[in-house]
Amino acid sequence: MNTLHLTEEQRAWAQETLCRTAAKLEKVSRRSAHKIPYTTVNGVHDDRSGPDQIGWWTNGFWGGMMWQLYKLTGEESYRAIAEENERKLDENFLHYDMLDHDNGFKWLPTAVADYRLTGSREARNRGLLAANHLAGRYNLAGRFIRAWNDWEDNGRDHRGWAIIDCLMNLPLLYWAAQELGDRRFQQIAVSHADTARRCFLRGDGSVRHIVEFDHESGEMMCDYGGQGCERGSSWTRGQTWALYGFTLSYLHTGDMDFLDAAQSVANYFLSNIPESGLIPVDFRQPEDVTWEDSTAAAIASCGLIELAKLTQGRQSALYRDAALKMLRALTEHSFSWDENEDCLLTKCTAAYHDAEHEFSIIYGDYYFLEALMKLTGDELFIW
Ligand code: GLY
Repeated sequence: MNTLHLTEEQRAWAQETLCRTAAKLEKVSRRSAHKIPYTTVNGVHDDRSGPDQIGWWTNGFWGGMMWQLYKLTGEESYRAIAEENERKLDENFLHYDMLDHDNGFKWLPTAVADYRLTGSREARNRGLLAANHLAGRYNLAGRFIRAWNDWEDNGRDHRGWAIIDCLMNLPLLYWAAQELGDRRFQQIAVSHADTARRCFLRGDGSVRHIVEFDHESGEMMCDYGGQGCERGSSWTRGQTWALYGFTLSYLHTGDMDFLDAAQSVANYFLSNIPESGLIPVDFRQPEDVTWEDSTAAAIASCGLIELAKLTQGRQSALYRDAALKMLRALTEHSFSWDENEDCLLTKCTAAYHDAEHEFSIIYGDYYFLEALMKLTGDELFIW
């Protein structure tokens, strides 16, 4: 089995940073025990568990952080918080209009993580319901999983829309296929990943955010810049969903085309990391725009660490060292070590054209923790 071959110094940094992070999160978890946070307001977690927001796509990450900490420490308090998050998400199953392709983001870090750790039958049931709904969004003509519902973007017709982010939802289908011994789930996931490889990946290794297909004929129509700067640009979080997402499809299938795709994106990403190690919102944003997206750095680090384990020699070291460079840059420049503040990462950005930039976002914190735990070998593999 390939390992990361961390230097002594890298190993010590990862161990110490995980220790400090876990110590802070222990206090945060007590304050936010009954919330499902997305961001912080004046340093305090908000709560997205109300009836209008329970379907928000990030509502699995807090539970995921708690399961990771439970795995790390065995502390029952983390398990209780994660189980509460998971139970609250049941409300989402009753609101069809709030269910979209993000079932993987919501139920892999909650129900499936729970099932993997505890064998809970209730949790397994939730995971399988979520997987069945996700599979039902597959368009046979275009061989893609539909991303959003029409009402998610002012009534715009989204029947033919697929987005790069969906690669991260596919592991829910890979899990269901294995759990049930039912190849349909695997076939849909592989088919969608293959479409992403053919239609989203550009020749230079960058990826598009949104591709629109004719939902009847399946023909590829056009692409959009989505949450990035503009059409043809390079939204960094989208690059990371592709980098980590293709890597995961390789891990679940062994198909070398997915490993090649992941490495194309990774090599493109590496060649664009600034000297500072801090990742902008879009690699092609204007030079006078300095907005960062810490989530992209954290997610890319997770994907690169997995690729470092799958490759050897100089290539593996390049991936590993790039991940460490970004994680260190985050802790030195874009991080709150203040134990009275609920967030970890401070410079996350949801979308380039949003009014607000550089604030805390829960999935940035989740992937930062996951990356550290990959480095120390303590991770619960969620995807
Ligand atoms: N999956 C939506 C986003 O990355 O913002």
